[in-house]
Amino acid sequence: MLGRSRLPFVFLAVAVTCAVAQHAPPWTEDCRKSTYPPSGPTYRGPVPWYTINLDLPPYKRWQQLITDKAPSLRIIVNSLKDVVNAFVPSGKIMQIVDQKLPGLLGNFPGPYEEEMKAISDITGIPLGVIEWILGKKDAMWIGFITRSVLENSTSYEEARNILIKTKILAPAYFILGGNKSGEGCVITRDRKKSLDIYELDLEQSRWYVVETNYDRWKNPFFLDDRRTAAKMCLNQTTQESISLPTMYDILSTKPVLNKLTVFTTLMDVAKGQFETYLRDCPDPCIGW
Ligand SMILES: *[C@@H]1O[C@H](CO)[C@@H](O)[C@H](O)[C@H]1NC(C)=O
Ligand SMILES: *[C@@H]1O[C@H](CO)[C@@H](O)[C@H](O)[C@H]1NC(C)=O
Ligand SMILES: *[C@@H]1O[C@H](CO)[C@@H](O)[C@H](O)[C@H]1NC(C)=O
Repeated sequence: MLGRSRLPFVFLAVAVTCAVAQHAPPWTEDCRKSTYPPSGPTYRGPVPWYTINLDLPPYKRWQQLITDKAPSLRIIVNSLKDVVNAFVPSGKIMQIVDQKLPGLLGNFPGPYEEEMKAISDITGIPLGVIEWILGKKDAMWIGFITRSVLENSTSYEEARNILIKTKILAPAYFILGGNKSGEGCVITRDRKKSLDIYELDLEQSRWYVVETNYDRWKNPFFLDDRRTAAKMCLNQTTQESISLPTMYDILSTKPVLNKLTVFTTLMDVAKGQFETYLRDCPDPCIGW
């Protein structure tokens, strides 16, 4: 299951237009075959694996991960502060966020307050700043809703219901797969409600659903038609032959793979497999 922002591609896509108008190199290619296991120029390496033990008290769970990532977290937070201070140069806003916000907002629900205190203590980033980045509390941050579904939902139906109904902080696509035949859907959300639920329909031979970064009823930006490319490759394979390797083939085919692709994650619910690979898309390749 993935929660994805429905916004970010727009800005980059507009910028791409100017850059590619005069050229027409091979931005697309025939559906790739036998790209798995990952290797070659589109593979930048593995992602480190951390085991988060939820049986530990919340304050202890993230110790190793946050200790390793503290320097990068501090860099991210400092650049966010720079952006804010560039708009309001007095530094007053960050001062309020640093000092007053924790009290103003009250506690985050469930395990989050304690977990964030630990993150704050390990990194030295003030708790108020962490809370400010994660957002206000009357609606769920996307990370919180996915976390609570992954941690506590015990069936496809329950997960689907929560993702459809819970109020959230920002629009999102939820891509959900179950472990039984026919269990799979893409939920298009705005903050308050679901705009669309697109289901597998095996009787109609719809054995896959594709979500790139567009509402299903809207056409993709013409230089970013990953949707048609992915469907074309899926149509060239069969339901019986779909597997992590054949999914990796599709996700390695330009322009499904493009310069904005940071990583590729493959999951198999029934087998409990979860693999993530850092990606690259050497020239000629669309997206940046
Ligand atoms: C999951 O449920 C347990 C037991 O009710 C609760 O303690 C925990 O906070 C829940 N996790 C999340 C992320 O909400
Ligand atoms: C599917 O998931 C449910 C809920 O976790 C589990 O009870 C069931 O055994 C699983 N079925 C298969 C076929 O893996
Ligand atoms: C893929 O196959 C479906 C079902 O036959 C068809 O409706 C769709 O147009 C095809 N898409 C592409 C991009 O080939």
